[in-house]
Amino acid sequence: MATRDTWVSNLGFVLAAVGSAAGLGNIWRFPWLTAGNGGSAFLAVYLAIVVSVGVPGLLAEFVLGRRGRQTPMGALRSLTGSRWGSVLGAFNVLTTLLILSFYSVVGGWILRYTLVSPTGAYFAQPQQYFGAIGYGFEAVGFHLLFLGIVAGIVFFGVNRGIERVSKVMLPAVVVLLVGLAAWTATQPGTAAGYAFYLGFDGEYLFANFASVLGPAAGQALFTLSVGAGTMLTYASYIDEDSSLPRDTIVIAVSNTFIGVLAGLVVIPLLFSQGVDPGQGGPGALFVGLAAAFESLPGGRVVATAFFAAVLMAAVTSAISLLETPVATLVDAVGMPRRRATLLISGVLALTGTGLSLSAPIFQFVSGTVADLMLSVGLFAFLVIVGWMLREDAIAEFRAGAGRMGVLAPSWLFTVSWLLPVVVLFSLSSTLGSLVGVSLDLGSRVAVAVVLTFVCRAVVAVAVDG
Ligand code: PFF
Repeated sequence: MATRDTWVSNLGFVLAAVGSAAGLGNIWRFPWLTAGNGGSAFLAVYLAIVVSVGVPGLLAEFVLGRRGRQTPMGALRSLTGSRWGSVLGAFNVLTTLLILSFYSVVGGWILRYTLVSPTGAYFAQPQQYFGAIGYGFEAVGFHLLFLGIVAGIVFFGVNRGIERVSKVMLPAVVVLLVGLAAWTATQPGTAAGYAFYLGFDGEYLFANFASVLGPAAGQALFTLSVGAGTMLTYASYIDEDSSLPRDTIVIAVSNTFIGVLAGLVVIPLLFSQGVDPGQGGPGALFVGLAAAFESLPGGRVVATAFFAAVLMAAVTSAISLLETPVATLVDAVGMPRRRATLLISGVLALTGTGLSLSAPIFQFVSGTVADLMLSVGLFAFLVIVGWMLREDAIAEFRAGAGRMGVLAPSWLFTVSWLLPVVVLFSLSSTLGSLVGVSLDLGSRVAVAVVLTFVCRAVVAVAVDG
Protein backbone atom coordinates (compact mmCIF):
# COMPACT_ATOMS: atom_id res chain seq x y z
CA MET A 1 0.00 0.00 0.00
CA ALA A 2 1.22 3.52 -0.76
CA THR A 3 2.29 5.57 2.26
CA ARG A 4 -0.53 7.62 3.73
CA ASP A 5 -0.58 11.37 3.86
CA THR A 6 0.20 13.01 7.21
CA TRP A 7 -0.14 16.53 8.60
CA VAL A 8 3.02 18.58 8.24
CA SER A 9 2.66 19.86 11.80
CA ASN A 10 0.47 19.32 14.85
CA LEU A 11 -0.71 22.91 14.47
CA GLY A 12 -1.87 22.03 10.97
CA PHE A 13 -3.97 19.19 12.38
CA VAL A 14 -5.47 21.39 15.10
CA LEU A 15 -6.33 24.16 12.65
CA ALA A 16 -7.89 21.70 10.19
CA ALA A 17 -9.92 20.11 12.99
CA VAL A 18 -11.12 23.50 14.28
CA GLY A 19 -11.88 24.31 10.65
CA SER A 20 -14.05 21.20 10.44
CA ALA A 21 -15.82 22.05 13.68
CA ALA A 22 -16.35 25.77 13.14
CA GLY A 23 -18.74 26.13 10.26
CA LEU A 24 -22.36 26.74 9.41
CA GLY A 25 -23.18 25.07 12.71
CA ASN A 26 -21.59 27.95 14.61
CA ILE A 27 -22.75 30.83 12.50
CA TRP A 28 -25.93 29.75 10.79
CA ARG A 29 -27.41 27.22 13.24
CA PHE A 30 -26.13 28.28 16.67
CA PRO A 31 -27.45 31.87 16.84
CA TRP A 32 -30.98 31.03 15.76
CA LEU A 33 -31.16 27.91 17.93
CA THR A 34 -29.95 30.00 20.85
CA ALA A 35 -32.38 32.78 20.10
CA GLY A 36 -35.29 30.36 19.73
CA ASN A 37 -34.54 28.52 22.97
CA GLY A 38 -34.33 31.28 25.53
CA GLY A 39 -30.95 32.85 24.73
CA SER A 40 -28.73 32.58 27.77
CA ALA A 41 -30.55 29.47 29.03
CA PHE A 42 -29.70 27.59 25.86
CA LEU A 43 -26.15 28.89 25.96
CA ALA A 44 -25.65 27.56 29.49
CA VAL A 45 -26.99 24.05 28.72
CA TYR A 46 -25.11 23.94 25.44
CA LEU A 47 -21.80 24.84 27.12
CA ALA A 48 -22.36 22.21 29.80
CA ILE A 49 -23.00 19.55 27.16
CA VAL A 50 -20.00 20.56 25.09
CA VAL A 51 -17.78 20.04 28.15
CA SER A 52 -19.39 16.86 29.51
CA VAL A 53 -20.33 15.06 26.28
CA GLY A 54 -18.70 16.77 23.32
CA VAL A 55 -15.14 16.80 24.60
CA PRO A 56 -14.96 13.15 25.76
CA GLY A 57 -16.86 12.06 22.63
CA LEU A 58 -14.48 13.91 20.32
CA LEU A 59 -11.55 12.41 22.17
CA ALA A 60 -13.01 8.93 21.62
CA GLU A 61 -13.20 9.62 17.89
CA PHE A 62 -9.58 10.81 17.85
CA VAL A 63 -8.45 7.72 19.75
CA LEU A 64 -10.11 5.48 17.14
CA GLY A 65 -8.56 7.40 14.25
CA ARG A 66 -5.01 7.46 15.55
CA ARG A 67 -5.17 3.85 16.74
CA GLY A 68 -6.76 2.61 13.52
CA ARG A 69 -4.61 4.70 11.16
CA GLN A 70 -7.24 4.42 8.46
CA THR A 71 -10.55 5.86 7.34
CA PRO A 72 -13.62 4.67 9.30
CA MET A 73 -14.33 1.43 7.39
CA GLY A 74 -10.81 0.03 7.64
CA ALA A 75 -10.13 1.44 11.10
CA LEU A 76 -13.29 0.12 12.74
CA ARG A 77 -12.92 -3.24 11.04
CA SER A 78 -9.36 -3.73 12.25
CA LEU A 79 -10.05 -2.39 15.73
CA THR A 80 -13.12 -4.55 16.29
CA GLY A 81 -11.81 -7.54 14.34
CA SER A 82 -15.27 -7.90 12.86
CA ARG A 83 -17.05 -7.24 9.61
CA TRP A 84 -19.54 -5.18 11.65
CA GLY A 85 -16.77 -2.62 11.98
CA SER A 86 -16.82 -2.07 8.20
CA VAL A 87 -20.59 -1.74 8.28
CA LEU A 88 -20.37 0.98 10.93
CA GLY A 89 -17.63 2.70 8.93
CA ALA A 90 -19.83 2.57 5.84
CA PHE A 91 -22.58 4.19 7.90
CA ASN A 92 -20.15 7.03 8.70
CA VAL A 93 -19.41 7.49 5.03
CA LEU A 94 -23.12 7.68 4.32
CA THR A 95 -23.50 10.28 7.07
CA THR A 96 -20.82 12.51 5.58
CA LEU A 97 -22.41 12.26 2.13
CA LEU A 98 -25.79 13.13 3.51
CA ILE A 99 -24.59 16.08 5.58
CA LEU A 100 -22.49 17.43 2.73
CA SER A 101 -25.48 17.21 0.37
CA PHE A 102 -27.39 19.84 2.35
CA TYR A 103 -24.30 21.67 3.57
CA SER A 104 -23.33 22.35 0.00
CA VAL A 105 -26.76 23.83 -0.73
CA VAL A 106 -26.42 26.26 2.20
CA GLY A 107 -22.81 26.87 1.14
CA GLY A 108 -24.21 27.86 -2.27
CA TRP A 109 -26.59 30.39 -0.68
CA ILE A 110 -23.70 31.88 1.30
CA LEU A 111 -21.50 32.04 -1.76
CA ARG A 112 -24.24 33.94 -3.57
CA TYR A 113 -24.76 36.37 -0.68
CA THR A 114 -21.02 37.01 -0.50
CA LEU A 115 -20.91 37.82 -4.19
CA VAL A 116 -23.96 40.08 -4.26
CA SER A 117 -23.46 41.89 -0.92
CA PRO A 118 -21.27 44.64 -2.47
CA THR A 119 -24.21 45.59 -4.72
CA GLY A 120 -26.79 45.32 -1.94
CA ALA A 121 -28.96 43.19 -4.24
CA TYR A 122 -31.06 41.75 -1.43
CA PHE A 123 -31.32 44.95 0.65
CA ALA A 124 -34.61 46.21 -0.70
CA GLN A 125 -36.65 43.05 -0.15
CA PRO A 126 -34.69 40.52 1.90
CA GLN A 127 -37.61 38.15 2.41
CA GLN A 128 -38.58 37.99 -1.25
CA TYR A 129 -34.95 37.72 -2.32
CA PHE A 130 -34.28 34.71 -0.14
CA GLY A 131 -37.63 33.22 -1.14
CA ALA A 132 -36.67 33.50 -4.80
CA ILE A 133 -33.15 32.08 -4.61
CA GLY A 134 -33.41 29.50 -1.79
CA TYR A 135 -34.58 26.57 -3.87
CA GLY A 136 -34.69 25.99 -7.61
CA PHE A 137 -32.31 26.03 -10.53
CA GLU A 138 -30.24 28.99 -9.41
CA ALA A 139 -29.74 27.31 -6.05
CA VAL A 140 -28.48 24.25 -7.95
CA GLY A 141 -25.95 26.40 -9.78
CA PHE A 142 -24.51 27.91 -6.60
CA HIS A 143 -24.49 24.52 -4.86
CA LEU A 144 -22.37 23.17 -7.74
CA LEU A 145 -20.04 26.14 -7.53
CA PHE A 146 -19.53 25.69 -3.79
CA LEU A 147 -18.96 21.97 -4.24
CA GLY A 148 -16.44 22.71 -6.98
CA ILE A 149 -14.39 24.90 -4.60
CA VAL A 150 -14.42 22.22 -1.91
CA ALA A 151 -13.48 19.47 -4.38
CA GLY A 152 -10.66 21.63 -5.71
CA ILE A 153 -9.09 21.70 -2.25
CA VAL A 154 -9.54 18.01 -1.41
CA PHE A 155 -8.11 17.16 -4.83
CA PHE A 156 -4.70 18.40 -3.63
CA GLY A 157 -4.58 16.13 -0.61
CA VAL A 158 -4.13 16.41 3.12
CA ASN A 159 -1.20 18.77 3.45
CA ARG A 160 -1.07 20.56 0.11
CA GLY A 161 -4.85 21.04 0.08
CA ILE A 162 -6.60 20.82 3.42
CA GLU A 163 -3.82 21.87 5.80
CA ARG A 164 -2.72 24.83 3.70
CA VAL A 165 -6.20 26.18 3.18
CA SER A 166 -7.17 25.76 6.86
CA LYS A 167 -4.08 27.66 7.99
CA VAL A 168 -5.21 30.69 6.02
CA MET A 169 -8.99 30.54 6.22
CA LEU A 170 -9.49 29.81 9.89
CA PRO A 171 -7.49 32.80 11.18
CA ALA A 172 -9.26 34.95 8.58
CA VAL A 173 -12.64 33.86 9.93
CA VAL A 174 -11.63 34.78 13.48
CA VAL A 175 -10.25 38.19 12.48
CA LEU A 176 -13.39 39.03 10.49
CA LEU A 177 -15.71 37.92 13.29
CA VAL A 178 -13.81 39.88 15.95
CA GLY A 179 -14.01 42.97 13.75
CA LEU A 180 -17.71 42.44 13.15
CA ALA A 181 -18.44 41.87 16.84
CA ALA A 182 -16.64 45.13 17.67
CA TRP A 183 -18.61 46.96 14.97
CA THR A 184 -21.87 45.49 16.28
CA ALA A 185 -21.10 46.80 19.77
CA THR A 186 -21.07 50.35 18.40
CA GLN A 187 -24.50 50.08 16.80
CA PRO A 188 -27.64 51.52 18.39
CA GLY A 189 -30.39 49.30 19.77
CA THR A 190 -28.23 46.28 20.52
CA ALA A 191 -28.31 46.39 24.36
CA ALA A 192 -31.41 44.21 24.64
CA GLY A 193 -29.74 41.62 22.43
CA TYR A 194 -26.69 41.37 24.69
CA ALA A 195 -28.90 41.10 27.77
CA PHE A 196 -30.90 38.29 26.18
CA TYR A 197 -27.80 36.41 25.02
CA LEU A 198 -25.47 36.86 27.97
CA GLY A 199 -27.67 37.55 30.99
CA PHE A 200 -28.35 34.37 32.91
CA ASP A 201 -32.07 33.63 33.04
CA GLY A 202 -32.35 30.88 35.65
CA GLU A 203 -36.12 30.92 35.72
CA TYR A 204 -36.45 30.19 32.02
CA LEU A 205 -33.84 27.48 32.33
CA PHE A 206 -35.66 25.59 35.09
CA ALA A 207 -39.04 25.93 33.41
CA ASN A 208 -37.81 24.70 30.02
CA PHE A 209 -34.90 22.43 30.85
CA ALA A 210 -36.36 19.32 29.18
CA SER A 211 -37.12 21.03 25.90
CA VAL A 212 -33.78 22.85 25.72
CA LEU A 213 -31.81 19.66 26.31
CA GLY A 214 -32.50 17.95 22.96
CA PRO A 215 -31.55 20.81 20.64
CA ALA A 216 -28.56 21.69 22.84
CA ALA A 217 -27.22 18.12 22.67
CA GLY A 218 -27.80 17.89 18.91
CA GLN A 219 -26.02 21.19 18.39
CA ALA A 220 -23.07 20.17 20.60
CA LEU A 221 -22.43 17.08 18.43
CA PHE A 222 -23.01 18.83 15.13
CA THR A 223 -20.76 21.74 15.96
CA LEU A 224 -17.86 19.57 17.10
CA SER A 225 -18.23 17.33 14.00
CA VAL A 226 -18.57 14.32 16.29
CA GLY A 227 -20.17 11.10 15.05
CA ALA A 228 -19.55 11.23 11.31
CA GLY A 229 -16.02 9.82 11.18
CA THR A 230 -14.52 13.06 9.84
CA MET A 231 -12.52 13.66 13.01
CA LEU A 232 -11.56 9.98 13.00
CA THR A 233 -10.21 10.43 9.48
CA TYR A 234 -8.29 13.60 10.41
CA ALA A 235 -6.78 11.84 13.45
CA SER A 236 -5.60 8.98 11.25
CA TYR A 237 -3.07 11.42 9.76
CA ILE A 238 -1.37 12.41 13.04
CA ASP A 239 1.69 11.19 14.93
CA GLU A 240 1.95 9.25 18.13
CA ASP A 241 3.73 12.09 19.92
CA SER A 242 0.93 14.63 19.80
CA SER A 243 -1.25 14.87 22.89
CA LEU A 244 -4.83 13.90 22.06
CA PRO A 245 -6.42 15.29 25.25
CA ARG A 246 -4.62 18.62 24.89
CA ASP A 247 -5.53 18.92 21.20
CA THR A 248 -9.16 18.04 21.94
CA ILE A 249 -9.47 20.77 24.56
CA VAL A 250 -7.83 23.35 22.29
CA ILE A 251 -10.19 22.39 19.45
CA ALA A 252 -13.34 22.48 21.60
CA VAL A 253 -12.45 25.80 23.23
CA SER A 254 -11.59 27.44 19.89
CA ASN A 255 -14.78 26.15 18.31
CA THR A 256 -16.91 27.41 21.19
CA PHE A 257 -15.15 30.76 21.05
CA ILE A 258 -16.04 31.10 17.36
CA GLY A 259 -19.67 30.10 18.03
CA VAL A 260 -20.07 32.59 20.89
CA LEU A 261 -18.40 35.27 18.77
CA ALA A 262 -20.84 34.65 15.92
CA GLY A 263 -23.68 34.98 18.43
CA LEU A 264 -22.26 38.34 19.52
CA VAL A 265 -22.68 39.55 15.96
CA VAL A 266 -25.95 37.95 14.92
CA ILE A 267 -28.16 38.21 18.02
CA PRO A 268 -27.62 41.91 18.90
CA LEU A 269 -28.05 42.83 15.21
CA LEU A 270 -31.34 40.97 15.00
CA PHE A 271 -32.52 42.71 18.18
CA SER A 272 -31.51 46.10 16.84
CA GLN A 273 -33.93 45.53 13.96
CA GLY A 274 -36.73 44.40 16.22
CA VAL A 275 -36.64 40.95 14.54
CA ASP A 276 -38.24 38.41 16.87
CA PRO A 277 -35.32 36.06 17.47
CA GLY A 278 -37.54 33.04 18.10
CA GLN A 279 -39.15 33.46 14.68
CA GLY A 280 -35.95 33.55 12.69
CA GLY A 281 -35.47 29.87 11.92
CA PRO A 282 -32.96 28.78 9.30
CA GLY A 283 -33.66 31.88 7.21
CA ALA A 284 -32.70 34.28 10.07
CA LEU A 285 -29.22 34.76 8.77
CA PHE A 286 -30.38 35.70 5.33
CA VAL A 287 -33.55 37.61 6.02
CA GLY A 288 -33.20 39.19 9.48
CA LEU A 289 -29.58 40.16 9.12
CA ALA A 290 -30.07 41.49 5.64
CA ALA A 291 -32.49 44.04 7.07
CA ALA A 292 -29.91 45.01 9.70
CA PHE A 293 -27.15 45.49 7.16
CA GLU A 294 -29.42 47.54 4.97
CA SER A 295 -30.26 50.05 7.65
CA LEU A 296 -26.82 50.53 9.18
CA PRO A 297 -23.96 52.70 7.95
CA GLY A 298 -21.44 50.85 5.81
CA GLY A 299 -23.91 48.01 5.47
CA ARG A 300 -22.61 46.68 2.17
CA VAL A 301 -19.03 46.40 3.34
CA VAL A 302 -20.06 44.81 6.61
CA ALA A 303 -22.41 42.39 4.87
CA THR A 304 -19.67 41.34 2.48
CA ALA A 305 -17.22 40.78 5.34
CA PHE A 306 -19.81 38.81 7.26
CA PHE A 307 -20.78 36.47 4.44
CA ALA A 308 -17.13 36.02 3.45
CA ALA A 309 -16.40 34.85 7.00
CA VAL A 310 -19.33 32.42 6.90
CA LEU A 311 -18.23 31.18 3.49
CA MET A 312 -14.69 30.39 4.64
CA ALA A 313 -15.98 28.68 7.76
CA ALA A 314 -18.32 26.59 5.62
CA VAL A 315 -15.56 25.61 3.19
CA THR A 316 -13.21 24.34 5.92
CA SER A 317 -16.02 22.18 7.34
CA ALA A 318 -17.11 20.90 3.95
CA ILE A 319 -13.59 19.74 3.10
CA SER A 320 -13.59 17.43 6.13
CA LEU A 321 -16.93 16.03 4.99
CA LEU A 322 -15.60 15.36 1.49
CA GLU A 323 -12.23 14.05 2.67
CA THR A 324 -13.84 11.16 4.56
CA PRO A 325 -15.55 9.41 1.61
CA VAL A 326 -12.68 10.29 -0.75
CA ALA A 327 -10.00 8.92 1.57
CA THR A 328 -12.17 5.84 2.15
CA LEU A 329 -12.02 5.04 -1.57
CA VAL A 330 -8.27 5.66 -1.52
CA ASP A 331 -7.76 3.41 1.53
CA ALA A 332 -10.25 0.69 0.70
CA VAL A 333 -9.83 0.13 -3.02
CA GLY A 334 -6.59 1.96 -3.74
CA MET A 335 -8.28 4.44 -6.09
CA PRO A 336 -6.07 7.46 -6.89
CA ARG A 337 -7.15 10.49 -4.80
CA ARG A 338 -7.97 12.66 -7.77
CA ARG A 339 -10.24 10.12 -9.37
CA ALA A 340 -11.92 9.45 -6.02
CA THR A 341 -12.52 13.19 -5.54
CA LEU A 342 -14.18 13.47 -8.95
CA LEU A 343 -16.32 10.40 -8.39
CA ILE A 344 -17.61 11.39 -4.95
CA SER A 345 -18.16 15.00 -6.02
CA GLY A 346 -20.23 13.70 -8.94
CA VAL A 347 -22.47 11.81 -6.53
CA LEU A 348 -22.80 14.86 -4.28
CA ALA A 349 -23.60 17.09 -7.24
CA LEU A 350 -26.67 14.92 -7.82
CA THR A 351 -27.81 14.48 -4.21
CA GLY A 352 -27.34 18.18 -3.46
CA THR A 353 -29.31 19.04 -6.59
CA GLY A 354 -32.18 16.95 -5.30
CA LEU A 355 -32.18 18.89 -2.02
CA SER A 356 -31.86 22.28 -3.77
CA LEU A 357 -35.11 21.55 -5.52
CA SER A 358 -37.17 20.45 -2.56
CA ALA A 359 -37.52 22.56 0.60
CA PRO A 360 -39.38 19.92 2.68
CA ILE A 361 -36.82 17.19 2.01
CA PHE A 362 -34.01 19.67 2.62
CA GLN A 363 -35.44 20.58 6.01
CA PHE A 364 -36.01 16.99 7.06
CA VAL A 365 -32.52 15.90 6.07
CA SER A 366 -30.69 18.91 7.54
CA GLY A 367 -32.52 18.64 10.87
CA THR A 368 -33.80 15.32 12.12
CA VAL A 369 -31.92 12.93 9.82
CA ALA A 370 -28.54 14.57 10.35
CA ASP A 371 -28.98 14.67 14.15
CA LEU A 372 -30.05 11.01 14.25
CA MET A 373 -27.19 9.79 12.11
CA LEU A 374 -24.58 11.67 14.15
CA SER A 375 -26.01 10.24 17.37
CA VAL A 376 -25.97 6.68 16.00
CA GLY A 377 -22.41 7.18 14.75
CA LEU A 378 -21.24 8.50 18.10
CA PHE A 379 -22.96 5.65 19.92
CA ALA A 380 -21.05 3.14 17.80
CA PHE A 381 -17.75 4.91 18.62
CA LEU A 382 -18.56 4.83 22.33
CA VAL A 383 -19.36 1.12 22.23
CA ILE A 384 -16.10 0.33 20.48
CA VAL A 385 -13.92 2.54 22.68
CA GLY A 386 -15.66 2.07 26.02
CA TRP A 387 -16.90 -1.50 25.85
CA MET A 388 -14.47 -3.22 23.47
CA LEU A 389 -11.05 -1.55 23.28
CA ARG A 390 -10.85 -0.38 26.90
CA GLU A 391 -7.17 -0.88 27.86
CA ASP A 392 -6.05 -0.24 24.30
CA ALA A 393 -8.03 2.98 24.30
CA ILE A 394 -6.35 4.06 27.52
CA ALA A 395 -2.94 3.33 26.02
CA GLU A 396 -3.78 5.41 22.96
CA PHE A 397 -5.06 8.27 25.14
CA ARG A 398 -1.82 8.21 27.11
CA ALA A 399 0.54 8.08 24.13
CA GLY A 400 2.04 11.56 23.89
CA ALA A 401 -0.31 12.90 26.58
CA GLY A 402 2.31 13.45 29.30
CA ARG A 403 0.79 14.34 32.63
CA MET A 404 -2.70 14.53 31.18
CA GLY A 405 -2.48 10.74 30.93
CA VAL A 406 -3.79 10.53 34.53
CA LEU A 407 -7.19 11.57 33.21
CA ALA A 408 -7.48 8.45 31.06
CA PRO A 409 -9.46 6.24 33.50
CA SER A 410 -12.06 8.89 34.28
CA TRP A 411 -12.40 9.62 30.58
CA LEU A 412 -12.94 5.91 29.87
CA PHE A 413 -15.58 5.74 32.58
CA THR A 414 -17.39 8.72 31.05
CA VAL A 415 -17.21 7.16 27.61
CA SER A 416 -18.44 3.76 28.83
CA TRP A 417 -21.34 4.89 31.02
CA LEU A 418 -22.30 8.55 31.03
CA LEU A 419 -22.10 9.20 27.31
CA PRO A 420 -24.08 6.15 26.13
CA VAL A 421 -26.92 7.17 28.47
CA VAL A 422 -26.85 10.75 27.19
CA VAL A 423 -26.74 9.69 23.53
CA LEU A 424 -29.52 7.11 23.96
CA PHE A 425 -31.53 9.75 25.80
CA SER A 426 -31.30 12.17 22.92
CA LEU A 427 -31.81 9.41 20.30
CA SER A 428 -34.91 8.01 21.98
CA SER A 429 -36.32 11.53 22.52
CA THR A 430 -35.89 12.39 18.84
CA LEU A 431 -37.34 9.05 17.69
CA GLY A 432 -40.16 9.42 20.21
CA SER A 433 -41.13 12.84 18.92
CA LEU A 434 -41.00 11.50 15.34
CA VAL A 435 -43.63 8.88 16.15
CA GLY A 436 -45.59 11.24 18.39
CA VAL A 437 -44.67 9.81 21.82
CA SER A 438 -43.64 12.35 24.43
CA LEU A 439 -42.59 11.21 27.90
CA ASP A 440 -41.64 13.38 30.86
CA LEU A 441 -37.99 13.98 31.65
CA GLY A 442 -37.73 11.31 34.36
CA SER A 443 -39.22 8.58 32.15
CA ARG A 444 -36.95 9.50 29.29
CA VAL A 445 -33.90 9.21 31.53
CA ALA A 446 -35.16 5.83 32.79
CA VAL A 447 -35.63 4.58 29.20
CA ALA A 448 -32.08 5.69 28.33
CA VAL A 449 -30.56 3.93 31.35
CA VAL A 450 -32.42 0.67 30.64
CA LEU A 451 -31.46 0.80 26.97
CA THR A 452 -27.81 1.32 27.91
CA PHE A 453 -27.80 -1.82 30.07
CA VAL A 454 -29.55 -3.82 27.34
CA CYS A 455 -27.04 -2.70 24.70
CA ARG A 456 -24.17 -3.43 27.07
CA ALA A 457 -25.44 -6.98 27.59
CA VAL A 458 -25.93 -7.54 23.86
CA VAL A 459 -22.41 -6.34 23.08
CA ALA A 460 -20.92 -8.45 25.89
CA VAL A 461 -22.59 -11.58 24.51
CA ALA A 462 -21.56 -10.78 20.95
CA VAL A 463 -17.93 -10.07 21.87
CA ASP A 464 -17.40 -12.98 24.27
CA GLY A 465 -19.55 -15.42 22.36
N1 PFF B 1 -19.14 21.03 12.52
C1 PFF B 1 -19.66 21.55 11.30
C2 PFF B 1 -20.41 22.82 11.59
O1 PFF B 1 -20.63 23.14 12.75
O2 PFF B 1 -20.80 23.49 10.64
C3 PFF B 1 -20.58 20.57 10.61
C4 PFF B 1 -20.05 19.18 10.50
C5 PFF B 1 -18.84 18.95 9.84
C6 PFF B 1 -20.73 18.13 11.07
C7 PFF B 1 -18.32 17.67 9.78
C8 PFF B 1 -20.23 16.85 11.02
C9 PFF B 1 -19.04 16.64 10.37
F1 PFF B 1 -18.56 15.44 10.32
